[in-house]
Amino acid sequence: MPDDSKTGVTVLGLGAMGTALAEAFLAGGHPTTVWNRSAGKAGGLAAKGAVVAGTPAEAIAANGVVVVCLFDARSVREVLETGAESLPGRVLVNLTNGTPGEARELAAWVAEHDVEFLDGGIMAVPPMIGSPAAFVLYSGSRTAFDTHKELFDSLGESLYYGTDPGLAALHDLALLSGMYGMFMGVIQAFALIGSEGSEARSFAPLLKRWITGMTGFIDGAAEQIDKRDYTIGVVSNLAMQAGAGDAFAKVGEEQAISAELLAPLRPLMLRRVADGHGHEDLTGIIELLKIKK
Ligand SMILES: NC(=O)c1ccc[n+]([C@@H]2O[C@H](COP(=O)([O-])OP(=O)(O)OC[C@H]3O[C@@H](n4cnc5c(N)ncnc54)[C@H](OP(=O)(O)O)[C@@H]3O)[C@@H](O)[C@H]2O)c1
Repeated sequence: MPDDSKTGVTVLGLGAMGTALAEAFLAGGHPTTVWNRSAGKAGGLAAKGAVVAGTPAEAIAANGVVVVCLFDARSVREVLETGAESLPGRVLVNLTNGTPGEARELAAWVAEHDVEFLDGGIMAVPPMIGSPAAFVLYSGSRTAFDTHKELFDSLGESLYYGTDPGLAALHDLALLSGMYGMFMGVIQAFALIGSEGSEARSFAPLLKRWITGMTGFIDGAAEQIDKRDYTIGVVSNLAMQAGAGDAFAKVGEEQAISAELLAPLRPLMLRRVADGHGHEDLTGIIELLKIKK
Protein backbone atom coordinates (compact mmCIF):
# COMPACT_ATOMS: atom_id res chain seq x y z
CA MET A 1 0.00 0.00 0.00
CA PRO A 2 1.18 3.59 -0.63
CA ASP A 3 3.31 5.06 2.16
CA ASP A 4 3.06 8.86 2.54
CA SER A 5 6.67 9.10 3.76
CA LYS A 6 7.84 7.89 0.32
CA THR A 7 8.22 9.97 -2.84
CA GLY A 8 4.99 10.27 -4.80
CA VAL A 9 5.10 9.61 -8.53
CA THR A 10 2.85 10.10 -11.53
CA VAL A 11 2.84 7.70 -14.47
CA LEU A 12 1.54 9.00 -17.81
CA GLY A 13 0.65 6.11 -20.13
CA LEU A 14 -0.77 2.77 -19.10
CA GLY A 15 0.26 0.51 -21.94
CA ALA A 16 1.95 -2.80 -21.10
CA MET A 17 5.08 -0.99 -19.88
CA GLY A 18 3.46 1.99 -18.14
CA THR A 19 1.20 -0.38 -16.19
CA ALA A 20 4.22 -2.46 -15.10
CA LEU A 21 6.03 0.73 -13.99
CA ALA A 22 3.04 1.92 -11.95
CA GLU A 23 2.67 -1.52 -10.36
CA ALA A 24 6.34 -1.53 -9.35
CA PHE A 25 6.06 1.96 -7.80
CA LEU A 26 2.99 0.86 -5.85
CA ALA A 27 4.75 -2.33 -4.75
CA GLY A 28 7.63 -0.13 -3.49
CA GLY A 29 5.11 1.80 -1.34
CA HIS A 30 5.23 5.01 -3.44
CA PRO A 31 1.97 6.99 -3.66
CA THR A 32 1.18 6.75 -7.38
CA THR A 33 -1.12 8.74 -9.65
CA VAL A 34 -1.81 7.42 -13.14
CA TRP A 35 -3.29 8.77 -16.36
CA ASN A 36 -3.99 7.11 -19.70
CA ARG A 37 -5.50 8.48 -22.93
CA SER A 38 -8.12 5.71 -23.16
CA ALA A 39 -10.21 5.14 -20.08
CA GLY A 40 -10.57 1.67 -18.59
CA LYS A 41 -6.90 0.68 -18.22
CA ALA A 42 -6.45 1.90 -14.65
CA GLY A 43 -8.90 -0.36 -12.81
CA GLY A 44 -6.30 -2.90 -11.61
CA LEU A 45 -3.95 -0.14 -10.46
CA ALA A 46 -6.73 1.72 -8.62
CA ALA A 47 -7.51 -1.50 -6.74
CA LYS A 48 -3.86 -1.53 -5.61
CA GLY A 49 -4.04 2.06 -4.33
CA ALA A 50 -3.25 4.24 -7.37
CA VAL A 51 -5.06 7.54 -7.81
CA VAL A 52 -6.56 7.84 -11.29
CA ALA A 53 -6.33 11.35 -12.80
CA GLY A 54 -8.76 12.65 -15.39
CA THR A 55 -6.32 14.79 -17.39
CA PRO A 56 -2.54 15.03 -17.96
CA ALA A 57 -2.53 18.41 -16.14
CA GLU A 58 -4.21 16.89 -13.07
CA ALA A 59 -1.83 13.91 -13.12
CA ILE A 60 1.30 16.07 -13.48
CA ALA A 61 0.14 18.40 -10.69
CA ALA A 62 -0.31 15.46 -8.29
CA ASN A 63 3.39 14.64 -7.72
CA GLY A 64 6.88 16.07 -7.89
CA VAL A 65 8.14 13.24 -10.11
CA VAL A 66 6.39 12.45 -13.39
CA VAL A 67 7.28 9.35 -15.42
CA VAL A 68 6.16 9.28 -19.06
CA CYS A 69 5.91 5.98 -20.93
CA LEU A 70 3.98 6.42 -24.17
CA PHE A 71 4.14 5.18 -27.72
CA ASP A 72 6.74 7.54 -29.22
CA ALA A 73 8.28 11.03 -29.03
CA ARG A 74 5.30 12.59 -30.77
CA SER A 75 2.74 11.21 -28.29
CA VAL A 76 4.97 12.33 -25.39
CA ARG A 77 5.10 15.89 -26.69
CA GLU A 78 1.33 15.95 -27.35
CA VAL A 79 0.50 14.80 -23.82
CA LEU A 80 3.02 17.14 -22.16
CA GLU A 81 1.75 20.11 -24.17
CA THR A 82 -1.77 19.31 -22.95
CA GLY A 83 -0.59 19.34 -19.34
CA ALA A 84 2.09 22.06 -19.70
CA GLU A 85 0.52 24.39 -17.12
CA SER A 86 1.40 21.87 -14.35
CA LEU A 87 4.99 21.23 -15.43
CA PRO A 88 6.95 24.00 -13.62
CA GLY A 89 8.91 22.65 -10.64
CA ARG A 90 8.49 18.98 -11.60
CA VAL A 91 11.09 16.28 -12.28
CA LEU A 92 10.16 14.68 -15.60
CA VAL A 93 11.46 11.22 -16.52
CA ASN A 94 10.79 10.12 -20.08
CA LEU A 95 10.98 6.32 -20.35
CA THR A 96 9.52 6.21 -23.86
CA ASN A 97 11.86 4.67 -26.44
CA GLY A 98 13.44 7.17 -28.78
CA THR A 99 16.62 8.51 -30.31
CA PRO A 100 19.30 10.69 -28.67
CA GLY A 101 18.15 13.59 -30.85
CA GLU A 102 14.55 13.22 -29.67
CA ALA A 103 15.70 13.15 -26.03
CA ARG A 104 17.77 16.33 -26.52
CA GLU A 105 14.87 18.06 -28.25
CA LEU A 106 12.48 17.17 -25.42
CA ALA A 107 15.07 18.28 -22.84
CA ALA A 108 15.29 21.71 -24.54
CA TRP A 109 11.50 22.03 -24.62
CA VAL A 110 10.94 21.06 -20.97
CA ALA A 111 13.75 23.40 -19.85
CA GLU A 112 11.52 26.26 -21.00
CA HIS A 113 8.94 24.98 -18.50
CA ASP A 114 11.25 24.97 -15.46
CA VAL A 115 11.50 21.18 -15.37
CA GLU A 116 14.38 18.93 -14.20
CA PHE A 117 14.70 16.31 -16.92
CA LEU A 118 15.92 12.74 -17.20
CA ASP A 119 15.57 10.56 -20.26
CA GLY A 120 15.71 6.82 -19.85
CA GLY A 121 15.90 3.48 -21.60
CA ILE A 122 14.18 0.47 -20.06
CA MET A 123 16.22 -2.69 -20.54
CA ALA A 124 13.45 -5.12 -19.64
CA VAL A 125 10.10 -6.40 -20.83
CA PRO A 126 7.07 -5.63 -18.65
CA PRO A 127 7.07 -8.86 -16.54
CA MET A 128 10.72 -8.19 -15.60
CA ILE A 129 10.01 -4.73 -14.15
CA GLY A 130 10.82 -4.67 -10.42
CA SER A 131 12.93 -7.83 -10.66
CA PRO A 132 16.74 -7.98 -10.25
CA ALA A 133 17.05 -8.82 -13.97
CA ALA A 134 15.70 -5.40 -15.03
CA PHE A 135 17.89 -2.35 -15.50
CA VAL A 136 17.04 1.16 -16.60
CA LEU A 137 19.49 3.63 -18.16
CA TYR A 138 19.19 7.32 -17.28
CA SER A 139 20.82 10.51 -18.54
CA GLY A 140 20.16 14.18 -17.93
CA SER A 141 19.91 15.93 -14.56
CA ARG A 142 22.38 14.37 -12.11
CA THR A 143 20.56 16.05 -9.22
CA ALA A 144 17.25 14.49 -10.23
CA PHE A 145 18.87 11.07 -10.55
CA ASP A 146 20.64 11.22 -7.17
CA THR A 147 17.61 12.66 -5.37
CA HIS A 148 15.16 10.05 -6.66
CA LYS A 149 17.33 6.97 -7.11
CA GLU A 150 15.45 5.09 -4.40
CA LEU A 151 12.20 5.64 -6.34
CA PHE A 152 13.80 4.58 -9.64
CA ASP A 153 15.27 1.47 -8.03
CA SER A 154 11.68 0.18 -7.63
CA LEU A 155 11.83 -0.58 -11.38
CA GLY A 156 15.19 -2.41 -11.46
CA GLU A 157 18.83 -1.38 -11.24
CA SER A 158 19.23 2.33 -12.05
CA LEU A 159 22.29 3.20 -14.17
CA TYR A 160 23.27 6.81 -14.87
CA TYR A 161 25.08 7.71 -18.10
CA GLY A 162 25.77 11.45 -17.84
CA THR A 163 24.28 14.89 -18.11
CA ASP A 164 23.76 14.79 -21.89
CA PRO A 165 20.09 13.69 -22.05
CA GLY A 166 20.73 11.78 -25.29
CA LEU A 167 23.12 9.24 -23.77
CA ALA A 168 20.54 6.87 -22.24
CA ALA A 169 18.77 6.56 -25.62
CA LEU A 170 22.10 5.98 -27.37
CA HIS A 171 23.03 3.16 -24.99
CA ASP A 172 19.51 1.74 -25.19
CA LEU A 173 19.56 1.61 -29.01
CA ALA A 174 23.09 0.15 -29.01
CA LEU A 175 21.98 -2.66 -26.68
CA LEU A 176 18.85 -3.30 -28.75
CA SER A 177 21.03 -3.40 -31.90
CA GLY A 178 23.06 -6.18 -30.28
CA MET A 179 19.86 -7.98 -29.33
CA TYR A 180 18.27 -7.76 -32.79
CA GLY A 181 21.50 -8.90 -34.44
CA MET A 182 21.36 -11.98 -32.22
CA PHE A 183 17.66 -12.55 -32.93
CA MET A 184 18.34 -12.40 -36.68
CA GLY A 185 20.92 -15.15 -36.37
CA VAL A 186 18.74 -17.24 -34.07
CA ILE A 187 15.74 -17.05 -36.40
CA GLN A 188 17.93 -17.91 -39.42
CA ALA A 189 19.40 -20.88 -37.53
CA PHE A 190 15.95 -22.22 -36.65
CA ALA A 191 14.79 -21.73 -40.24
CA LEU A 192 17.71 -23.80 -41.57
CA ILE A 193 17.22 -26.58 -39.02
CA GLY A 194 13.48 -26.58 -39.67
CA SER A 195 14.04 -27.02 -43.42
CA GLU A 196 14.79 -30.70 -42.72
CA GLY A 197 11.86 -31.04 -40.33
CA SER A 198 13.86 -30.82 -37.08
CA GLU A 199 12.10 -29.32 -34.11
CA ALA A 200 13.47 -25.97 -32.95
CA ARG A 201 13.33 -27.00 -29.30
CA SER A 202 15.65 -29.98 -29.79
CA PHE A 203 18.18 -27.68 -31.51
CA ALA A 204 17.81 -24.85 -28.95
CA PRO A 205 20.31 -26.18 -26.34
CA LEU A 206 23.07 -26.45 -28.96
CA LEU A 207 22.29 -22.96 -30.29
CA LYS A 208 22.42 -21.49 -26.78
CA ARG A 209 25.76 -23.22 -26.12
CA TRP A 210 27.25 -21.79 -29.31
CA ILE A 211 25.96 -18.25 -28.86
CA THR A 212 26.99 -18.16 -25.19
CA GLY A 213 30.49 -19.27 -26.21
CA MET A 214 30.65 -16.58 -28.90
CA THR A 215 29.95 -13.80 -26.40
CA GLY A 216 33.61 -14.34 -25.41
CA PHE A 217 34.37 -12.42 -28.64
CA ILE A 218 32.98 -9.16 -27.26
CA ASP A 219 35.87 -8.15 -24.98
CA GLY A 220 38.53 -8.80 -27.63
CA ALA A 221 36.48 -6.90 -30.22
CA ALA A 222 36.17 -3.97 -27.80
CA GLU A 223 39.96 -3.84 -27.38
CA GLN A 224 40.51 -3.91 -31.18
CA ILE A 225 37.92 -1.16 -31.67
CA ASP A 226 39.26 1.09 -28.89
CA LYS A 227 42.82 0.76 -30.29
CA ARG A 228 41.55 0.84 -33.89
CA ASP A 229 43.84 -2.12 -34.48
CA TYR A 230 42.01 -5.11 -35.96
CA THR A 231 45.14 -7.26 -36.10
CA ILE A 232 45.22 -7.85 -32.32
CA GLY A 233 44.73 -11.51 -31.40
CA VAL A 234 43.25 -12.59 -34.76
CA VAL A 235 42.35 -16.26 -34.75
CA SER A 236 39.88 -16.35 -37.69
CA ASN A 237 40.91 -13.78 -40.25
CA LEU A 238 38.45 -11.84 -42.36
CA ALA A 239 39.55 -13.30 -45.73
CA MET A 240 38.77 -16.81 -44.43
CA GLN A 241 35.42 -15.68 -43.00
CA ALA A 242 34.43 -13.83 -46.19
CA GLY A 243 35.29 -16.91 -48.27
CA ALA A 244 33.21 -19.19 -46.03
CA GLY A 245 30.38 -16.65 -46.20
CA ASP A 246 29.38 -17.84 -49.66
CA ALA A 247 27.97 -20.98 -48.01
CA PHE A 248 25.20 -18.94 -46.33
CA ALA A 249 23.72 -17.93 -49.68
CA LYS A 250 24.20 -21.44 -51.13
CA VAL A 251 22.64 -23.28 -48.19
CA GLY A 252 19.65 -20.97 -48.50
CA GLU A 253 19.16 -21.98 -52.13
CA GLU A 254 19.68 -25.68 -51.36
CA GLN A 255 17.28 -25.71 -48.42
CA ALA A 256 14.78 -23.18 -49.89
CA ILE A 257 15.34 -20.72 -47.04
CA SER A 258 15.83 -17.05 -47.79
CA ALA A 259 19.25 -15.70 -46.79
CA GLU A 260 18.02 -12.08 -46.67
CA LEU A 261 18.37 -11.67 -42.89
CA LEU A 262 22.14 -12.12 -42.99
CA ALA A 263 22.75 -10.93 -46.57
CA PRO A 264 24.03 -7.41 -45.71
CA LEU A 265 27.08 -8.75 -43.83
CA ARG A 266 28.99 -10.43 -46.67
CA PRO A 267 29.28 -7.43 -49.02
CA LEU A 268 30.83 -5.49 -46.12
CA MET A 269 33.32 -8.33 -45.52
CA LEU A 270 34.25 -8.47 -49.21
CA ARG A 271 34.72 -4.69 -49.40
CA ARG A 272 37.02 -4.78 -46.40
CA VAL A 273 39.04 -7.67 -47.87
CA ALA A 274 39.28 -5.81 -51.21
CA ASP A 275 40.62 -2.80 -49.28
CA GLY A 276 43.54 -4.95 -48.07
CA HIS A 277 42.31 -5.98 -44.62
CA GLY A 278 41.83 -9.72 -45.20
CA HIS A 279 44.45 -10.60 -42.55
CA GLU A 280 42.56 -8.63 -39.89
CA ASP A 281 39.55 -9.50 -37.76
CA LEU A 282 35.87 -9.26 -38.67
CA THR A 283 35.62 -6.33 -36.24
CA GLY A 284 37.31 -4.06 -38.79
CA ILE A 285 34.07 -3.73 -40.78
CA ILE A 286 33.11 -1.14 -38.16
CA GLU A 287 35.25 1.25 -40.24
CA LEU A 288 32.79 0.86 -43.13
CA LEU A 289 29.85 1.78 -40.90
CA LYS A 290 31.13 5.28 -40.16
CA ILE A 291 29.32 7.78 -42.36
CA LYS A 292 30.93 11.17 -42.92
CA LYS A 293 28.49 13.96 -42.00
N1 LIG B 1 6.73 -3.47 -23.92
C1 LIG B 1 8.06 -3.66 -23.90
O1 LIG B 1 8.58 -4.79 -23.93
C2 LIG B 1 8.98 -2.46 -23.80
C3 LIG B 1 10.32 -2.65 -23.38
C4 LIG B 1 11.15 -1.54 -23.26
C5 LIG B 1 10.68 -0.29 -23.62
N2 LIG B 1 9.38 -0.15 -24.04
C6 LIG B 1 8.93 1.19 -24.45
O2 LIG B 1 7.89 1.66 -23.58
C7 LIG B 1 7.02 2.51 -24.32
C8 LIG B 1 5.58 2.03 -24.12
O3 LIG B 1 5.51 0.68 -24.56
P1 LIG B 1 4.26 -0.24 -24.21
O4 LIG B 1 4.71 -1.64 -24.33
O5 LIG B 1 3.60 0.22 -22.97
O6 LIG B 1 3.32 0.13 -25.48
P2 LIG B 1 1.74 -0.04 -25.61
O7 LIG B 1 1.27 -1.16 -24.76
O8 LIG B 1 1.46 -0.06 -27.06
O9 LIG B 1 1.15 1.31 -24.97
C9 LIG B 1 1.28 2.55 -25.64
C10 LIG B 1 0.80 3.64 -24.72
O10 LIG B 1 0.92 4.89 -25.40
C11 LIG B 1 -0.35 5.54 -25.39
N3 LIG B 1 -0.46 6.39 -26.55
C12 LIG B 1 -0.18 6.08 -27.85
N4 LIG B 1 -0.36 7.15 -28.65
C13 LIG B 1 -0.79 8.14 -27.84
C14 LIG B 1 -1.13 9.51 -28.07
N5 LIG B 1 -1.05 10.05 -29.30
N6 LIG B 1 -1.52 10.25 -27.01
C15 LIG B 1 -1.57 9.71 -25.76
N7 LIG B 1 -1.26 8.45 -25.48
C16 LIG B 1 -0.85 7.68 -26.50
C17 LIG B 1 -1.36 4.42 -25.33
O11 LIG B 1 -2.59 4.91 -24.90
P3 LIG B 1 -3.98 4.14 -25.22
O12 LIG B 1 -4.12 3.09 -24.16
O13 LIG B 1 -4.98 5.21 -25.15
O14 LIG B 1 -3.83 3.55 -26.61
C18 LIG B 1 -0.67 3.51 -24.32
O15 LIG B 1 -0.84 4.01 -23.01
C19 LIG B 1 7.46 2.47 -25.79
O16 LIG B 1 8.27 3.55 -26.09
C20 LIG B 1 8.28 1.18 -25.83
O17 LIG B 1 9.26 1.19 -26.86
C21 LIG B 1 8.52 -1.19 -24.12
